[in-house]
Amino acid sequence: TQARSHGGWRGSEKEQKPPGLLEPRLRAGTTEQSPLPHLIGQSKWQARIQGGGDKEPPLVGAAAPARRELGTRLGVAATGVLVCHPGAHLHPASPAGIFNGVKLVVETPEETLFSQLGANVTLPCRYRYEPALLSPRPVRIKWWKLSEDGAPEQDVLVAIGLRHRSFGDYRGRVRLPQGGEREASLQIWDLRLEDSGRYRCEVIDGLEDESGLVELELRGVVFPYQHPRGRYQLNFHEAQRACEEQDAVVASFEQLFRAWEEGLDWCNAGWLQDASVQYPVTLARQRCGGLGLAPGVRSYGPRHRRLHRYDVFCFSAALKGQVYYLEHPEKLTLAEAEEACREDGARIAKVGQLFAAWKFRGLDRCDAGWLADGSARYPVVRPRPNCGPLAPGIRSFGFPDPQSRTYGVYCYRPR
Ligand SMILES: *[C@@H]1O[C@H](CO)[C@@H](O)[C@H](O)[C@H]1NC(C)=O
Repeated sequence: TQARSHGGWRGSEKEQKPPGLLEPRLRAGTTEQSPLPHLIGQSKWQARIQGGGDKEPPLVGAAAPARRELGTRLGVAATGVLVCHPGAHLHPASPAGIFNGVKLVVETPEETLFSQLGANVTLPCRYRYEPALLSPRPVRIKWWKLSEDGAPEQDVLVAIGLRHRSFGDYRGRVRLPQGGEREASLQIWDLRLEDSGRYRCEVIDGLEDESGLVELELRGVVFPYQHPRGRYQLNFHEAQRACEEQDAVVASFEQLFRAWEEGLDWCNAGWLQDASVQYPVTLARQRCGGLGLAPGVRSYGPRHRRLHRYDVFCFSAALKGQVYYLEHPEKLTLAEAEEACREDGARIAKVGQLFAAWKFRGLDRCDAGWLADGSARYPVVRPRPNCGPLAPGIRSFGFPDPQSRTYGVYCYRPR
């Protein structure tokens, strides 16, 4: 449950790419249809890259506004289409403050911190003066979280000397460890899914203020989710609810991008946290936008939160509890399945829990079982004959008749 941090510190952000998780390719059964005839909602970022003069909308990866703010590293895919990679931060270096010939310098780690649900983590931030000062000066320290487009989203904590105040969801969960001189690091306890993202640490000394950026990512898995009625049924608010009901949250662009790098390929467009709609393609093909488009995360741009309907990409983090296939003499109806888990001192598992168990615990079972949303699925880590497609993934049977006795059940027991 330790946060992992590597490498150096940044005064200004450098180009760094966090190591990808070496996990099996995620391949769920896709409906091979092109999500929309063309992409709309071209971002400013793309317009800049493409020069704005192309007739075709740019079918490139990474169109989320976050990309623009973060800065991007560009790679040229085989087809000549620009692809944008995460983790390359061309953040404009803020000039160090200068007063009376003394500079205030704030340092944060260059690389993304990884942690997991329920863990305690420290977001490192230090400051110093150049040249060093002999006597300490009083400073005010402020932490806040950035939204995906880089705007301040939420105040986290403000501290002056030993007094500090925390805000919103962070109240009672954050503090500045006392003692360390020139120390502005933030401790967060009991990490939640929503805590992942970028934080800014600001040190205010009289007239000067300097700040640094810290990125925190939770280990997790991105999965596409469809409403029981089928494709493209969810507006943004319903999409948020759908993920919550699966013990997950709506995925951020960063999370979807990482999942794409790890092989997620899904030919239905889904909501992301910033209310944009995108889909990841690793293998260009005719029925999924055509062969002429480079693989990438393709974006429709921001969509109307209430009026537009799509699928959703959910993000579920590594679990504390255990997901297992219930050994039971007979196949069960959905209601019997729920009851059988209860009798076993557990609950019927949610979709997000099954994905997390598959990804982080290597849950591998060739028996389809009911899940809490009324779908039937099974997780495969080591593909084998008579066990679905020859790639690891969660196989889905959709939402069968709840009365049918064709399936077993996956249960979840919290620890
Ligand atoms: C996090 O810190 C709190 C307070 O120090 C402690 O009670 C708790 O056990 C810690 N949790 C983990 C997962 O280390």
